[in-house]
Amino acid sequence: MGIYGYFVAPWKCLVVIGLRLLFLVPAGVPARSGDSFSKDNITVRQGDSAVLKCTVDSKVSRVAWLNRTTILYAGTDKWSLDPRVVRMDNTPVTEYSIKIQNVNVHDEGPYVCSILMSNKPKSSKVHLIVQVPAKITNISTDITVNEGSNITLMCLAIGRPEPNIIWKHRSAKGHNFVTEGEYVDMTVITKEQSGSYECISSNDISAPDVRTVKVTVNYAPFISNARSTGTPVGQKGVLQCEASAVPGADFEWYKEDRRLFNGLNGVKIENQGKQSMLMFLNVSEEDYGNYTCVALNTMGITNASIILYGKTALLLLLKYNIGLILYMLLCALGMQL
Ligand SMILES: *[C@@H]1O[C@H](CO)[C@@H](O)[C@H](O)[C@H]1NC(C)=O
Ligand SMILES: *[C@@H]1O[C@H](CO)[C@@H](O)[C@H](O)[C@H]1NC(C)=O
Ligand SMILES: *[C@@H]1O[C@H](CO)[C@@H](O)[C@H](O)[C@H]1NC(C)=O
Ligand SMILES: *[C@@H]1O[C@H](CO)[C@@H](O)[C@H](O)[C@H]1NC(C)=O
Ligand SMILES: *[C@@H]1O[C@H](CO)[C@@H](O)[C@H](O)[C@H]1NC(C)=O
Ligand SMILES: *[C@@H]1O[C@H](CO)[C@@H](O)[C@H](O)[C@H]1NC(C)=O
Ligand SMILES: *[C@@H]1O[C@H](CO)[C@@H](O)[C@H](O)[C@H]1NC(C)=O
Repeated sequence: MGIYGYFVAPWKCLVVIGLRLLFLVPAGVPARSGDSFSKDNITVRQGDSAVLKCTVDSKVSRVAWLNRTTILYAGTDKWSLDPRVVRMDNTPVTEYSIKIQNVNVHDEGPYVCSILMSNKPKSSKVHLIVQVPAKITNISTDITVNEGSNITLMCLAIGRPEPNIIWKHRSAKGHNFVTEGEYVDMTVITKEQSGSYECISSNDISAPDVRTVKVTVNYAPFISNARSTGTPVGQKGVLQCEASAVPGADFEWYKEDRRLFNGLNGVKIENQGKQSMLMFLNVSEEDYGNYTCVALNTMGITNASIILYGKTALLLLLKYNIGLILYMLLCALGMQL
């Protein structure tokens, strides 16, 4: 093998020079328009085979395929050491074709079919274009940040042609287009910006490559639902408090300044997701009053007042502002009737 290499390489060089001098169009010199008889491009996907065809007829005495300046095949002689390069021999006599198997991006470029025809050189140039499907090579990991932070999401992709990258935001409210490009900057992030961010990389060579980054935005609780309830003495009663928060809120219940605990003083506290329930097993007169639901997490704390009132509500309600307003309203209505 070694001997072969030493022996053959200089010989080949000499022949290359000889062939060039004899009939081949020098590399790098563009073929004059009269000499060139094809300007087609061949487009193949990476990994596929490319067939380079050259039309010949009985007047053609010599023919060769070149990759840039290197001879791949001269007549039936293989010059290329690349096993992927093969001559196609079951072709019509008017066709001189070679095949490049398992094409890769380095194969992209000009290929020249050089022919000698009644002592006049001609060449046909084809440009091999190698396409590579879009593929995401690096993407930000899922991230958790506090509301108000600045973050940048990244999505890098390869492909030929250069892939187009777009971002979509999938939140509870649905899908939104965000931006185009490898990076998404989010300054002073809000809780509405949490959710999944899809990076869609495409270049129309195959289906887009899609990957997702999950953005979690921590925020302090806010109480979204806290409704007062009327319950007669002797019945079961429930006060409900609902708080949105990330991480999920912990709840505490107070009556005036006294903290209430699950299982004590005839109350049960049950938390389910965003909701906390204060349950009275058997409502008594003393249970009526003003309760406070406190929701807290690492980001902050908030509270809401909830009133448990009886069915003989009017007098009890009078103790409270809402009651007073309601009472006055009723009185005003009564006076008009
Ligand atoms: C062939 O490819 C070359 C290089 O990509 C390009 O400049 C040229 O316009 C293409 N020609 C045709 C006919 O598509
Ligand atoms: C064509 O030439 C380029 C540059 O020298 C090389 O990387 C590539 O492997 C060659 N391809 C074939 C099929 O010879
Ligand atoms: C992805 O990009 C990040 C940031 O530029 C870098 O630290 C990391 O090593 C990259 N990962 C890979 C697999 O290339
Ligand atoms: C976030 O970005 C804003 C606007 O560019 C800037 O004013 C602020 O200082 C940045 N905050 C941090 C924590 O980097
Ligand atoms: C509720 O409490 C009252 C007074 O303490 C008692 O008479 C009644 O039986 C209790 N009801 C239930 C269902 O436990
Ligand atoms: C409820 O919130 C107010 C103001 O934010 C605060 O002054 C009060 O102490 C809180 N009440 C409880 C029981 O935490
Ligand atoms: C319940 O108590 C809180 C403070 O503990 C107070 O701010 C609120 O006005 C009270 N609600 C009513 C209806 O009186």
